[in-house]
Amino acid sequence: MTNPTPSDKDRVVIFDTTLRDGEQCPGATMTHEEKLEVAELLDTMGVDIIEAGFPIASEGDFAAVREIAQRSKNAVICGLSRAAFKDIDRCAEAIKPAKRKRIHTFLSTSPVHMKYKLQKEPHEVYEMVIAQVTRARSHTDDVEWSSEDGTRTEIDFLCRCVEAAIKAGATTINIPDTVGYTTPDEYFNLFKTVIERVPNSDKAVFSTHCHNDLGMAVANSLAGVRGGARQIECTINGIGERAGNAALEEVVMAIKTRNDVFPYATGIDSTMLTRASKLVSAATSFPVQYNKAIVGRNAFAHESGIHQDGMLKNAQTYEIMTPDSVGVKQTSLVMGKHSGRHAFVHKLEELGYQLAANQLEDAFVRFKALADRKKQIYDEDIEALVDEEIATA
Ligand code: KIV
Ligand code: ZN
Repeated sequence: MTNPTPSDKDRVVIFDTTLRDGEQCPGATMTHEEKLEVAELLDTMGVDIIEAGFPIASEGDFAAVREIAQRSKNAVICGLSRAAFKDIDRCAEAIKPAKRKRIHTFLSTSPVHMKYKLQKEPHEVYEMVIAQVTRARSHTDDVEWSSEDGTRTEIDFLCRCVEAAIKAGATTINIPDTVGYTTPDEYFNLFKTVIERVPNSDKAVFSTHCHNDLGMAVANSLAGVRGGARQIECTINGIGERAGNAALEEVVMAIKTRNDVFPYATGIDSTMLTRASKLVSAATSFPVQYNKAIVGRNAFAHESGIHQDGMLKNAQTYEIMTPDSVGVKQTSLVMGKHSGRHAFVHKLEELGYQLAANQLEDAFVRFKALADRKKQIYDEDIEALVDEEIATA
């Protein structure tokens, strides 16, 4: 795979940060072995850049990033670092064995972060941006710079910092919505403005990084791409700080399913999305909510009679993507109190029964009564009910 460049207008680079921002959320810690397994799967499914960790954070993080770098096949392996030179150097050491490597270095640029977190004046922050990018560039020619809390940063200052970062050698500019505060329109305009106003903005790939505090991380990421970004930072199952990050599976399937609105391409093999979701859920012990888009267990399940009837006539009535396109074997018609006659007959055929009209009618009435009493109806329940119907007929 060739590294997408800013001239590949329609290609959106997928930057996965499950092992860094994802692992950073309370309770999502993974073991060394689990991280290796997740990284291998991400690499195989076509993730362009794997942010493998924050090497200065701990010996464990350093070791994981280093081993992932050693084992990487196609993906660029990236490590995160703050602006301090010791962070950047440690990160460079960790990613060294990778065939393709990136240093991701960040610094806060919003008034609230500069004043309270960094306790620095804007002119000091500006100088630090130049210094951190220059230091990172001394280790690798693939350097990403992030303006932390970018969406709450004053626009003139943001443009000045972005310009300085590109001049110092940053090849990717990430403008994170660190606190999940922006809206799609705002984020679209932000990229458009920065790309238009910063000289030489075409020398870098612009990137989105959205948190989900208001539930808009995926919509914001896609709006950023429409505004000119060509990299999306995201995580499997949307795990991440607080309410999480933009979910990789949702971004990928939105682009694939609504290519009329988002005319871009990713390199992801979408049939591996469900496997990736299950692996990350097992490794982090974070359950995937039942109704989670794309990978939730109900994403391709139908219980209401009207929907089941439609699905049996034509799957496009109630499904906008096929289950196999995300690695799910088949749609499931869940039998319950909302199921109708059509689905019941279909289930009986699946189980190998052929009933006479009067038996079928009786069995259906008994099934409905059972479904009113019992939350979950299994195949065995239906078999028992029909066997009894046949025996008493
Ligand atoms: O949310 C954020 O701002 C981050 C940066 C470190 C990129 O995760
Ligand atoms: Zn983040």
